Amino acid sequence: MGDQQVFRASTTAPVNIAVIKYWGKRDPKLNLPTNSSLSVTLAQSDLRTHTTASCSSSFSSPDSLILNGSPQDVSGARTQACFRELRQLRKQMEESDSKLPKLSQMPLRVVSENNFPTAAGLASSAAGFAALVRVIADLYQLSSTPTELSRIARQGSGSACRSLFGGYVAWEKGTEVDGSDSVAVEVAPVSHWPEMRALILVVSAEKKGVSSTSGMQATVATSTLFTERAERTVPKRMEEMKKAILDRDFDTFGKVTMRDSNSFHATCLDTDPPIFYMNDVSQAAVRMVEEINEAAGRVIAAYTFDAGPNAVIYYLAENEHAVVGLFKNVLGSKDGWAGSRGSAVKSNSEAKFNA
Ligand code: ADP
Ligand code: DP6
Ligand code: CO
Repeated sequence: MGDQQVFRASTTAPVNIAVIKYWGKRDPKLNLPTNSSLSVTLAQSDLRTHTTASCSSSFSSPDSLILNGSPQDVSGARTQACFRELRQLRKQMEESDSKLPKLSQMPLRVVSENNFPTAAGLASSAAGFAALVRVIADLYQLSSTPTELSRIARQGSGSACRSLFGGYVAWEKGTEVDGSDSVAVEVAPVSHWPEMRALILVVSAEKKGVSSTSGMQATVATSTLFTERAERTVPKRMEEMKKAILDRDFDTFGKVTMRDSNSFHATCLDTDPPIFYMNDVSQAAVRMVEEINEAAGRVIAAYTFDAGPNAVIYYLAENEHAVVGLFKNVLGSKDGWAGSRGSAVKSNSEAKFNA
């Protein structure tokens, strides 16, 4: 009965929200980005994926993935690439130690839950594929480093490579044609700047109209602004942002974060046909952050929007009252802020995020 045994592993992965956005692929097949990007991993926020993977020779083929209770198509190239690479690493272990059970030959069953809106611009693909890759690596007892796993997760969803690390994380676009150096690297651990906080405003939990994958491909194909952004604007900002983080310079961190979010959304608008991810409530959030900063006389809050209308606002713990206080005051009193899910605001202001 030994060969009927079920092997199982569980893990959880947090979302990361980019302050320098990834948008555009130079190689859609290998999922290689046109530009490098940089994010903060929100490890102690409420936004997480929980994933369990099991395998057994008693499972009927083929591999399966259930996301939030619904069976998903795993035949897509992205999921297949992750499964294939992880199996390959397991197979190498099995070949060098014949006593190991042949997990690489068994069908995989993956069950995943996001405790936040999926495909709504809150980085579900990032937490989702980071968790998927890590849980199978754990199941297979691989000794891979987070960098190696980030290279695999990148093929599932680009932003996922950054969720394998905590703290401040860069995804270096790399130069190799096979993508071997297109991986995530730690810029600084969370302990370097532990005062950073993120306020998440769920403007809409609805699935976005244009997925990140198809949106960025349309931008690459049609936007003339995009070349300027990818070739000149982002490389310069990557350096400014790394320095701001190493110097714990919130003023620069905030300014560059907001400008990069606006630059990314400008290329979406410059796409033909145009893509609108931000809505009027998103714009109201932008104006509120501007008011907060004007009242403070300096930048104490920085907004950023992924491919969706939901706002993430970075601030330092010392400015909790000025930033979160104002947003809480208007929550529920303005159209759109209350949300149907009961809690339109999720904040990690009590708990610090960390690795
Ligand atoms: P988001 O802004 O939420 O990242 P995307 O358009 O980038 O939206 O990706 C959404 C897709 O990511 C989903 O339709 C699904 O295919 C995939 N995804 C999301 N969560 C998970 C998960 N937990 N496990 C596997 N795949 C996931
Ligand atoms: C706006 O990583 O979701 O959130 O690689 O096609 O899965 P795929 O795209 P994805 O794109 C994320 C875009 C973004 C910016 C960012 O996270 O850097
Ligand atoms: Co995504």
